[in-house]
Amino acid sequence: MRIGNVELKNRVFLAPMAGVTDMPFRVLCKEQGCGLVYTEMVSAKGMHYLDEKSARLTLLDEKEKPGAVQIFGSEPEIMAEVTEKLNASDASIIDINMGCPAPKITKNGEGSALMKRPEQVGKIVSAVVGAANKPVTVKIRKGWDECSVNAVEIARIAEACGASAVTVHGRTREQYYSGKADWDIIRQVKRAVSIPVIGNGDVTGPAEAKRLLEETGCDAIMVGRGAQGNPWIFKQINRYLEEGVFTAQPTAGEKIDTIIRHMNMLIEHKGERTGILEMRSHIAWYIKGMRDASVTKQKIFKMNDKDEIISLLQDFLLHQ
Ligand SMILES: Cc1cc2nc3c(=O)[nH]c(=O)nc-3n(C[C@H](O)[C@H](O)[C@H](O)COP(=O)(O)O)c2cc1C
Repeated sequence: MRIGNVELKNRVFLAPMAGVTDMPFRVLCKEQGCGLVYTEMVSAKGMHYLDEKSARLTLLDEKEKPGAVQIFGSEPEIMAEVTEKLNASDASIIDINMGCPAPKITKNGEGSALMKRPEQVGKIVSAVVGAANKPVTVKIRKGWDECSVNAVEIARIAEACGASAVTVHGRTREQYYSGKADWDIIRQVKRAVSIPVIGNGDVTGPAEAKRLLEETGCDAIMVGRGAQGNPWIFKQINRYLEEGVFTAQPTAGEKIDTIIRHMNMLIEHKGERTGILEMRSHIAWYIKGMRDASVTKQKIFKMNDKDEIISLLQDFLLHQ
């Protein structure tokens, strides 16, 4: 599997998710065999104004390479300027966000709002490709709403302007993240362009992954929410695609060990306070479906001390 000149070891990718796919989580997914990770979306305007937090989001660890940095914005000049800065970064690929549905993004004409302005899409992709010394990819949705489904048109523009791959999330902006993803639109895009197409939406395990590849003919798949609290999904999907074998779920003990390691990595990366605050949601995802998960989650959401959380998790493990 290649995107431009970047060789990837497989075709199962981690979706960019703001507030989720930070460096520690991406490293855990990479360890489980994820073929390509993406940063959380980074504001081009933020980088233009030298915002430190935005710049920090673009950093990649040695262990997660090759990785993609995802940027969002609506002004071609600023996108190009930021791309020049990213040329010197560790990112192997620059991805442009054209899917974010959040009003604070779309009201500025950014994210999925770009799907309503095909001519602006062309200008942005051309500007970024022109400035980049690495492959540029674009992540789109099915369309803005059911009355304006235009993923095929937007993908064709992206390809014509030099994009090296396109990811299609089979939902409209109007749907946000609810309802079922429409995989047929992914199939339509695949038939319409020659660059690799990455299919996205509703992959929660090996069987869906295989089905998405088969039904749409897409070149790679991208897993979002199915990876939350479940970095093992990459190993499971890859093994199923390669050998047709289902891998057992990790044991409760393995899950708790990974939670503790993940928490330590987050604390090292972001400091104790932020690390623990952010770890709370990850823990809730990891333990979902286990015995006493709900009450344990409620307790953890009130805790600020790492040792206290570890002790609660050890106790939780004894009851599994
Ligand atoms: C919490 C959260 C944050 C997200 N942040 C981003 C983002 O920063 N950039 C982006 O392109 N998509 C973002 N997405 C969308 C995902 O990349 C993906 O397209 C979507 O979740 C559908 O895939 P799934 O059904 O496998 O979850 C986000 C989704 C979630 C749930």
